[in-house]
Amino acid sequence: MIFDRIKSLDSILATAEKKSLHRTLGWFQLTLFGIGCVIGTGIFALTAAGAQKAGPGLMLAFAIAGLICIVAALCYAEIASMIPVAGSAYTYTYATMGEFLAWTVGWALVLEYAVAASAVCVTWSDYFQGTVLREFLGIELPAWLGAGPLALGGSVGGFINLPAVIIAGLITWLLVVGTSESAKLNALLVAIKVTALTAFIVLTLPRVDAAQFNPFLPAGVFGGFGTGVGAVGAAATIFFAYVGFDAVSTAAEETKDPQRNVPIGLIGSLLFCTVFYILVAAGAIGTIGGQPIMGPGGIPFPAGSEELARQCALPQHAEALVCSREALAHVLRTIGFSTIGNMLGIAAFVALPSVILVLMFGQTRIFFVMSRDGLLPEALSRVHPKWKTPYIVTMLTGAAVASAAAFLPVGQLADIANAGTLYAFMMVAIAVLVLRRTDPNRVRSFRTPLVWLIAPATIAGCLFLFFNLPTAAMLVLPIWGGVGLIVYFLYSRRMSHVGRGFDTVGEAEVGALEPGAPGTR
Ligand code: ALA
Repeated sequence: MIFDRIKSLDSILATAEKKSLHRTLGWFQLTLFGIGCVIGTGIFALTAAGAQKAGPGLMLAFAIAGLICIVAALCYAEIASMIPVAGSAYTYTYATMGEFLAWTVGWALVLEYAVAASAVCVTWSDYFQGTVLREFLGIELPAWLGAGPLALGGSVGGFINLPAVIIAGLITWLLVVGTSESAKLNALLVAIKVTALTAFIVLTLPRVDAAQFNPFLPAGVFGGFGTGVGAVGAAATIFFAYVGFDAVSTAAEETKDPQRNVPIGLIGSLLFCTVFYILVAAGAIGTIGGQPIMGPGGIPFPAGSEELARQCALPQHAEALVCSREALAHVLRTIGFSTIGNMLGIAAFVALPSVILVLMFGQTRIFFVMSRDGLLPEALSRVHPKWKTPYIVTMLTGAAVASAAAFLPVGQLADIANAGTLYAFMMVAIAVLVLRRTDPNRVRSFRTPLVWLIAPATIAGCLFLFFNLPTAAMLVLPIWGGVGLIVYFLYSRRMSHVGRGFDTVGEAEVGALEPGAPGTR
């Protein structure tokens, strides 16, 4: 039987207990941590890809994706307050549906964390090139060094995205030497991002022209299966703007009164971001317009496609939102606020690396827990004697993040990351329902309200968004999953600690790693 290996919840909780981490975080720090993880590429860059898919319907897309994330967060909140340990969706699945499905979730989380980190590296590179190099230093990188072969739009002739590779390398180095951003630095970066977005809203909303919202849904609500366009196609992409809120649950082990504070941190940061995103989208589209560039048959050209890049190179599209590689700075420059546009560009340049750091940190910790469970080679979780970090897994993660960022456009990276994330969220919702049945008496200080409605809504919402991704992104999940199954049956199943009869970890291993999510201390 392949569904037989369930890790006992008591042993997971006992393991967490042994670590006896200091519980220092309150709800406010967690909310800040959540906002710090969440605001990034989604709003600073994918606004352009989202508008290319849905036009002004992007605002609806933000609402749809935000709603699905809020119901998913209600499920995360119950399970994270019940099992406040590292490993997030992977651990929850291990404790409820067994090792095999947990493996598939851990494997899918690579897409969530590593590929998402690549997407943010690409956005950082775009703001670095557009604001720091072009606006401030008057330097233009040669096209072949400034983007992968298919940039978001507006450039052809790219080959490798060198700045994206460099930032991935720098963050990897910081993680290897154990630098984790302090809570104070995180708070500062959140303040910078929120100030930049607030300035954007305050400057754009008074200049909104209602005519720019017409037609509101140029590609319809449903753009067609596999096309990834229309309001729901845009929602499937823009979902990326909310990815990362689940990192809050990974800090549950270090949270005071996690039963109360984790749900507040999760839901608070999401609600905050949803409202901000809708206002930013309204400001961007209402001022400079955000109609898609239509291809044959009145269907928008796919975001990140070569055809779109060619269209964007034409003079009549020079100012188009959908062609911009630094969407928000571009809007402010176009409506006459060049200096503030550049300051917003600097804000993105300064703050985006912390999003990369959190995502890559999440990836290394998931790998660490999987290898601690015996599902990945233990050498991967070897801790550096001096820096006390899982340096091997960190360097491998860094190499993967840099390679993807070097060659792929941000929109496609985001769609791939979304596919993995949607799978993980769905499994969390299923795990909540399973635990209500199998372990109804365990203390749940936070209970998902109307769970038999909210959890199925999460499952349906995740499936709905998944099936509205472009076909290529949808296919990555089963292909990546297939590779994962080969690894599982050739290696992990045999080596699993649970399978070999010991499902707790030793004191030595527990103490080996300094845990702690960046931005939480
Ligand atoms: N939500 C994060 C971002 O938009 C991953 O960059």
